Amino acid sequence: MDSRLLLCDGVRVSTSPPLSESLHDACVLRSTTPRAWALAAAQNLPLLLIEQAHLEKKAAAAAARFLFALPQEIWIQRALSYLAREELVHFERTLRQLELRGIRYVQQAPSGYAGKLKAACASAAPERVIDELLVSALIEARSHERMQALGHALAGTDPDASEFYLDLVEAEARHRCVYLDIAVAMSDEATVRSRFQPLSLRESELVAAKDQAVHLHGGHGAYDGV
Ligand SMILES: [Fe+2]
Ligand SMILES: [Fe+2]
Repeated sequence: MDSRLLLCDGVRVSTSPPLSESLHDACVLRSTTPRAWALAAAQNLPLLLIEQAHLEKKAAAAAARFLFALPQEIWIQRALSYLAREELVHFERTLRQLELRGIRYVQQAPSGYAGKLKAACASAAPERVIDELLVSALIEARSHERMQALGHALAGTDPDASEFYLDLVEAEARHRCVYLDIAVAMSDEATVRSRFQPLSLRESELVAAKDQAVHLHGGHGAYDGV
């Protein structure tokens, strides 16, 4: 089924207008997470799963906030509603992983990645909301990239966890495109392309940090060249 279509009361409805695929191809991550990061993350699975639960819940909350902040255009509202629901399903699936493994869902100090990325957004309208959408697209893209790497790293040692992560990545990749499409609808392709560049540069700087702890949303600099 086309990823832009979803079933609503048994009818296929659109979550997005047809937009340029070249924009999706242009607005991608600038850097790649080293494999050594994924191997280290696989060794710290309880902490990664606790973080995953927090991140899925935050992703659902972010989509719900956009529901109220963005125009009452039906395809935008429907796309965000569906996205928020998917994130909550991911949250519930992550809680199940914690439960099955006897891991307590506890508070965890955030890495600061999302907060620092949001600090790079314009401070005033109309650019502010475009930047916030593009930051969400970048966060979805990094989540997709790291969950895929972690899923592959776990394949030999923990097939259940590997399948769990690899099963989530299709949705995270799609979420990046949803946020890009909405940003274009709120402005135009040229604006999105130009505003995406400095934000993606900032994102690549943030993930290049040499963080001590392994975070899905954190620096991988300590694993470069390992
Ligand atoms: Fe998710
Ligand atoms: Fe997502």
